[in-house]
This record gives sequence, C-alpha cells and structure tokens, in this order.
Amino acid sequence: MNKSGKTTAASKKNAKPIRVGVIGVGRGQSFALGATDLVGMKLVALCDTWKDKLDEAGKKYGVSTYTDYDKFLEHDMDAVVLANYFHQHAPFAIKALDAGLHVMSECAACHTMAEGVALARAVERSKRIYMFAENYPYAAYNQEMRRLYLEGRVGKFVYGEGEYIHPDTAEVKMARSCGYNHWRNWSPWIYYCTHAIAPVMFITDTMPVSVSTFVVPYDFDDPTIAMTARRYDTGAALMLKMDNGAIVKALQGCFRGHGNFVRIHGNHGLMENCRTGNRSHLRVWREPWEKNPGEPIEQIYSPDFPAHHDLAMKAGHGGGDFFTNFHFAEAIRSGRQPYLDVYRGLAMSMCGIQGWRSALAGSAPMEVPDFRKESVRKKYENDGFSPDPTRQGHVPCSVLGEIKPSKKALAFSRAVWRKQGYKGE
Ligand SMILES: NC(=O)c1ccc[n+]([C@@H]2O[C@H](COP(=O)([O-])OP(=O)(O)OC[C@H]3O[C@@H](n4cnc5c(N)ncnc54)[C@H](O)[C@@H]3O)[C@@H](O)[C@H]2O)c1
Repeated sequence: MNKSGKTTAASKKNAKPIRVGVIGVGRGQSFALGATDLVGMKLVALCDTWKDKLDEAGKKYGVSTYTDYDKFLEHDMDAVVLANYFHQHAPFAIKALDAGLHVMSECAACHTMAEGVALARAVERSKRIYMFAENYPYAAYNQEMRRLYLEGRVGKFVYGEGEYIHPDTAEVKMARSCGYNHWRNWSPWIYYCTHAIAPVMFITDTMPVSVSTFVVPYDFDDPTIAMTARRYDTGAALMLKMDNGAIVKALQGCFRGHGNFVRIHGNHGLMENCRTGNRSHLRVWREPWEKNPGEPIEQIYSPDFPAHHDLAMKAGHGGGDFFTNFHFAEAIRSGRQPYLDVYRGLAMSMCGIQGWRSALAGSAPMEVPDFRKESVRKKYENDGFSPDPTRQGHVPCSVLGEIKPSKKALAFSRAVWRKQGYKGE
C-alpha cells in the first residue's frame, strides 16, 4: 500500500490466480469466500480437524479437504491462511513458511515471546510474504483517518484510544467456545488486543514500546460470565507508550455497550469515529484559532474507502475482510511485504503477552521489544510465559487466581457444546 492508501488492481490482470488454502473453517470461511478473481485468488484446499464441519465446507466450496495440517501443506498451492486456534498460529505459520508458502495469519501472531522470535526468524529465512490479517484498520473511517493524518490535518499524534467491546449472552459465548480448554474459555482479554491497537498504529504509523495493564476482574454477579466455562476477567485497559512518545489506551472486554471506537488526538486537532448515531461516521475537530478560514470547527461525515469502495462494501467487518485478502494478494504479486507485516503483527500481539505480565505484576510497565532486531530478539528466545492451562508452568488466567466455574455453569456450557455437535469435554 502506498502513502495515499491507494493500490492498483492492474497488477492482477493477466496474472495467474494465487492458489490459497485455508485452515480453520469457522472464521476461515470469510477468507475462503473472499479468495476470488476480484483479488486474483483461488481457493484450492481447506483443513480442519472438526470433520463434520470440514466436510460441509468442502462441499460448499468444491475443494480438497484435509484433517491433517502436514498433508494439507503438501497440496499444490502458493499460500495459506491461518484461521485455526488463536494461540496456535505461530507454529503453524512457521511450518507453512518452511514449506515455501506465503502466510496470512489471523490474530494473534504469536502466543509467547519465544514463538514471536521463532516467527520473525522464519519469515526472514523463508523470504516468503507474511501478512498479519488485522481487518479493523481497514474500516473506511480508519483508512480515512490515516489519509488525514498523513496529510497533517491534526498535527503530531499525542494521545489515542482504541476499543473493542464485545458482550454476548452466556449461550452465545459457549457456542463459540466448545470444550473446557477452548482458548476462548481461558485466554485473558488482553491477549485479544490487536483489534483495539491495530487501527491506532495504522493511522499514526507508530509502534508500541511499553505496556501497563489495568484489569477489571472476573464478575461473579454477571451471569454472562459466571454461567460459562470462562475463567478470565471481564476486560482490561492497556496503557501503551508509542515510539513517538504518544500515549494510547486500548480497551477490550465483554463490558456492556458493544462497539469499536478509535480516537486520535493530534497537537492540532482530533479525529474519531462517532459514538452515537452511525458509528461509521467520522468526526474531525479543529480549534477555531487553528482551522483554515472557511473550514468548519467540527465535521461529521461518512467517508468512502480510498479505493475499491464497491467491492469492500460487500465484505464483512465493515469492509476490512476485503482489504486483508486484497493486500495479501498484492504483496505476493509484488514480492514486497505488506504494511501489516510480521513485525507489526508481533508488536501488537506482544502487547497482549507483555500486558498480561504487567497485569500479574500490579500494572508495572513492561517493554514491548522491537523484533526487527535480532539483538533484541535473543533475550526472548526461550521465554514461554503463558496462561494456557495445557502448558507446563502456566500462569493464572485471572488476576484473582485460578477461577473454578460452578457445577451449574459447567452443566449449562456442556449442554450448549452438545447442541453445536461437539463431542469432547
Ligand atoms: N479478525 C476478525 O474479525 C476475527 C473474527 C473471528 C475470529 N477471528 C480469529 O480467527 C481464528 C479462528 O477463530 P474462530 O472464530 O473460527 O473459532 P475457533 O478458534 O474455535 O476455530 C478454529 C478452527 O480451527 C480448527 N483447528 C484447530 N486446530 C486445528 C488443527 N491442528 N488442524 C486443523 N484444524 C484445526 C478448529 O477445529 C476450528 O474449526 C482465531 O484466531 C480468532 O481470533 C478473527
């Protein structure tokens, strides 16, 4: 993507389609659906261990199916999209890169610092494209804010906020998290921080350098939490310092008040998406003594995408799902790493890991290291800090310690998992 946010579709004309395989037939189907000639891609294979769902998806798309990832990687293709479990992306990415395939990975890029080191090294070693599939930066209002920021409309970035607030009923939560140790039942909210952080990094071209976390604990009085198998807290705010000195608050959790918000304060103005009415509308504010003559103090409008507006409007997540496929394909065709490259993906993901360290250390600041430098990576190459209950030496998933769901909550959760066709515990 160039500075104006524009890319040409010309490069895909007359080119052979990029043959892509997708692992994970839940979220992965957004990528499967988007792998069309509009972006110069063709879906050729799917992989999932959940056989019934895989068979259904295989029939729907008419492509080869695999339950074994190693066999899937042997399929004749150019690229893979990883939409398998949230905390298992890095090892799957490394295997694919080492097999000579380009990789686009869902969030998070890595679950431990050591995995982050290994992933950065694998991308460099493979010389293949790696794209971090963060779709939230590509919402029209975020792309517009990037355009305005690069034009200098609000001056230098000094403070920002990103929010990803996602409440659900206990039943909806459990339908999405089949099995006691499904990642959505233990992974602290902080780890799911990339939707809140990515837009701010994208708009302002900044990187996080340190993180302090403030956790809203597990709420035993909230039935949408206490009637589930989830063992982590209600939500958390990360306070980040960015590499230009700006401060960012990134909030994520299952608080009431569903929505995504981004706020950018420059030293000459403010930009944010609206909190009431149409939340895709953008609000730009300039103080009366700083605005240009004739320009309003406050502007509220519905921005178009800078490019491919009609195509993007048909895709999910406010158009973001179109742009991830599009930029991945453009990167493969051009041979240049995309804007959301491995280092940006790792930086966002490490805010979650180091953020959880901070939460367990009473909100003490932790560094977010720059993994573009091997000298920096070295220190973390054996760092397996993790709340994953299946890993040896894991740390707690809640600031309150180990949470034990009630018998009633477990019975309810199991009933929901059965309804989903899940046969495990
Ligand atoms: N960017 C977004 O807007 C967005 C939205 C939803 C989900 N996601 C991400 O997508 C990923 C998948 O989430 P999901 O909602 O589909 O739920 P999920 O994590 O339950 O689904 C993962 C799928 O991968 C399959 N899988 C797991 N391990 C496998 C293996 N070893 N081999 C083959 N298949 C395997 C599972 O059977 C399951 O069908 C997560 O990382 C999530 O964070 C992103």
